[in-house]
Amino acid sequence: MGMKSLIAATALFTALSMGGQAAHAAGDPIHLEKQDWSFSGLFGTFDRAATQRGLQVYREVCATCHSLNYISFRNLADLGYSEGEVKAIAAEYDVVDGPNDEGEMFTRPGTPADRFVAPFANDNAARASNGGALPPDLSLIVEARAGFEDYIYGVLIGYVETPEGVTIAEGMSYNKVFPGHQIAMAQPLYEDGVTYADGTTASVEQMAKDVTTFLAWASEPNLEARKRTGVAVILFLI
Ligand code: HEC
Repeated sequence: MGMKSLIAATALFTALSMGGQAAHAAGDPIHLEKQDWSFSGLFGTFDRAATQRGLQVYREVCATCHSLNYISFRNLADLGYSEGEVKAIAAEYDVVDGPNDEGEMFTRPGTPADRFVAPFANDNAARASNGGALPPDLSLIVEARAGFEDYIYGVLIGYVETPEGVTIAEGMSYNKVFPGHQIAMAQPLYEDGVTYADGTTASVEQMAKDVTTFLAWASEPNLEARKRTGVAVILFLI
């Protein structure tokens, strides 16, 4: 089994086990192009500018549908934000808290200790808004598996016109890379879908790459520390 098909198989397995509506991979092989990622390799680190742009894409585009349940605002300090900036980002969210002394739940501005606020109150509400499909939580979507970031990037840029002779169900979109090619997520990224704070041109590829880098960090915020420890242990052993 070649590396490419291994990656495709991993992606397929993950998509199916995440409850994606892709019933069958239609026999035709899915080609994933390998990208260069700043965080790959023993000495790889997350490109801070890319993760910050990726956070912006997540907040402005993906967060309409996808939660990021395992990330606290204070984790964003890792991406190079100051304490004040983290506080300001957190405060833009309304967090449900309580019950108070009267037994009522109440809403207050977020603080760095809070986690990202999910767009829907529960999975049923999320499905109801997405034609029955559940937008998965994105905090652990990338996983440590080699190649999975290439898959997510591939899905995000993989929306093409439905090929002649292929029919897809109502409310579904054709995607080159998604197993079975029918995905319940409408194309989320369009050119200039965000206006980057750092002035970078927001092409679909750029946004896909940035948000994937951000999600890779979110899946493994301790990756860099682990690599540093690993290197230190190796040096010690030598
Ligand atoms: C309008 C709602 C919506 C938006 C906006 C959206 N998604 Fe999705 N997303 C979905 C739904 C629904 C699914 C489930 C698709 C399926 O199972 O067919 C999904 C699935 C996914 C998957 C899993 C694919 C798989 O293999 O199962 C990833 C990764 C993903 N979305 C990432 C993103 C990212 C990154 C963004 C922002 C750039 C984004 N989504 C924006 C609704 C959305």
